[in-house]
Parts: sequence; structure tokens; C-alpha cells
Amino acid sequence: MSTLNQRIQKRYNRISGIYDTMDQMIRESWRRELLGHVHGRVLEAGVGTGANLPFYPEKAEVTGIDFSRGMLDRARKKLEQGPNNSRIHLEEADIQALPFADDTFDFVVSTCVFCSVPDPVLGLRELKRVCKPDGRILMLEHMRSKNPVVGVLMDLLNPLTVRLWGANINRRTMDNIRRAGLTVLEEKPLFYSILKKLVLRP
Ligand SMILES: C[S@@+](CC[C@H](N)C(=O)[O-])C[C@H]1O[C@@H](n2cnc3c(N)ncnc32)[C@H](O)[C@@H]1O
Repeated sequence: MSTLNQRIQKRYNRISGIYDTMDQMIRESWRRELLGHVHGRVLEAGVGTGANLPFYPEKAEVTGIDFSRGMLDRARKKLEQGPNNSRIHLEEADIQALPFADDTFDFVVSTCVFCSVPDPVLGLRELKRVCKPDGRILMLEHMRSKNPVVGVLMDLLNPLTVRLWGANINRRTMDNIRRAGLTVLEEKPLFYSILKKLVLRP
């Protein structure tokens, strides 16, 4: 595994204990709305501490992966303490080299993940590969602002956020999505041009 991967992993392990207090960016209503209709086999890439897990419908068979053990441990604890979650399975894996065959999942989900995947285009290509051709990739992702002044501010702050918790706040995620060969079906701004709900086709 590359040293950059290890560095980002370590940072998420380090903050896993306080992550739930720290992370207030995504409203529960946005998670609920994103996940309310998923069904069949679902991959959640970068499941973190499991913030999305309560919002999956009963009929969804969910595999959540993350490369940070610290974050996954938190998600596992929540699963154990919650109601019957036998349809949810968690495992350690890297988004950039997913251990699944092509065309496996009906839905692939990521929320606030592609700011920290070390090689985002490689990761997005992996999502495309494991999603069924008629499947959907659902995202809530933050990215560099389109406002030139705010964008430059984000560029200036980025080294700090990467150092503190491994997240790049100035990723050009829409460009990365297109470079990975994914098609954007829906692009809904949730907080200016910075936080978006996205529906993609592989
Ligand atoms: C900001 S957290 C978001 C967690 C969760 N999706 C949420 O909405 O709260 C980003 C997560 O992505 C994971 N991650 C980043 N790069 C990854 C990779 N290459 N493979 C697997 N997980 C990764 C991190 O370990 C972290 O748990």
C-alpha cells in the first residue's frame, strides 16, 4: 500500500473516536432522502463510522467498506447495539482496489468520501466497474467552490485540512467524475456549489 494511503488511513484512525462529534456537514434528512429507495445489492464505499446505516431500507443488502480500522470499529459497535442489522456487512477494503467482481452492485453509495481517497479518479473508476450497467451511484460529496474567491480560500486552507483529518476541501470532484467515465444524471446543490447530491450512471 502506498505511503499516501497509509497516511490518510492513519489520520482517520486517529480521529475515529471524535469523528461523530466533528462531522456535522451532512443533514440526516439528506442521508434519508438519498438512501430511501435503494434496493438489491448495495455497496457503501467509505462507510466510516456508519452514519448512513440507519437509513437503508429493510430490503437492501448492504456491504460497507472502509480502509480505516478505527472508523470501521465504530461502525461495528453501532451495528451491534442497533436493531437486527443482519443484512448489513462491514469489511476492510480500499476503494481504489475493490475486492468485488465487475457488475456486482445495484447501487453504490458514497457520502463525503472522495475528498480523502488518495487517487480519486482510480477510486471512481472502481465504483464504475463494480456497479451493474443499469445500476446507480449515489453521492453526497463536497468539493471546491465555483466562486473564485472562496475557491482560492479553499486552496489555501487545504494543506491544513489534509494534515488534520485527511480531507482535501478543494477537490474538483465533478471533473474527476467525468475523467472516470461516469455519467451525471442528477446534480443538486445542497450548500452552494460546495456540497452536492449526485446521481451517476456507470
Ligand atoms: C469523511 S469520512 C465519511 C464517512 C461516511 N461516509 C460519512 O458519511 O460519515 C471518509 C471516509 O472515507 C474513508 N476512505 C478514504 N479513502 C478510502 C479508501 N481509499 N478506501 C476505503 N475507505 C476510504 C475514510 O477512512 C473515512 O472513513
